[in-house]
Amino acid sequence: MVEDPKSSNITRSEGLIDAEARNLRSGHGSCTVWFTGLSGSGKTTLALALEAELHSRKVGSYVLDGDNIRFGLNRDLGFSAADRTENIRRVGEVARLFCDSGLIVLTAFISPYLRDRELVRSLHTPSTFLEVYLNTPLEECERRDEKGLYRKARNGEIEEFTGISAPYEPPVDPELVVDTRRPLKECVNDVLAMLASRRTI
Ligand code: ADX
Repeated sequence: MVEDPKSSNITRSEGLIDAEARNLRSGHGSCTVWFTGLSGSGKTTLALALEAELHSRKVGSYVLDGDNIRFGLNRDLGFSAADRTENIRRVGEVARLFCDSGLIVLTAFISPYLRDRELVRSLHTPSTFLEVYLNTPLEECERRDEKGLYRKARNGEIEEFTGISAPYEPPVDPELVVDTRRPLKECVNDVLAMLASRRTI
């Protein structure tokens, strides 16, 4: 699934320090926690709350957020299927690097396509990619409409809006499903429990 690089005369160099050594130094493991779900499902809210909780426990983590990344690294990408695929590919590569650096990476991207998420999974070692599905129903996301985007999408002011005029493919076998209609603290605890059961924290 991963394409060969365009350049040919390039050679990989191996570092002297690997993720395992970094994890030994920090006292915790590293992985990518990949939140996926509709816009407004609560991905950013949950990722930020987790980051704060992990920080208070002296666990190194970092949030990669869809809207934020689109202001910088992915400023050249829109919301066509091809652009979303490229968005997720780049973020997947960045997450892999952050994960290798010893951090717990928390990503908040709609990432609507199964195939794109599977590609990101394939970039990681099996135990370091944890897919978390926020299964908040469309009606609830639309009721919240925190950014006013669903209203715009219904009025035809935004094209290819996920859940309205663009698809969302739910995960088939995610590591965790979170119902964000419960209190935030409970959702945070669910993810912490997943990390603890895998001895990441
Ligand atoms: S993804 O589909 O490529 O994974 P990403 O998570 O980066 O999307 O960005 C989604 C965010 O962009 C949404 O939360 C919303 O704020 C904003 N957005 C703007 N236009 C769209 C659109 N057409 N579809 C979905 N989200 C959009």
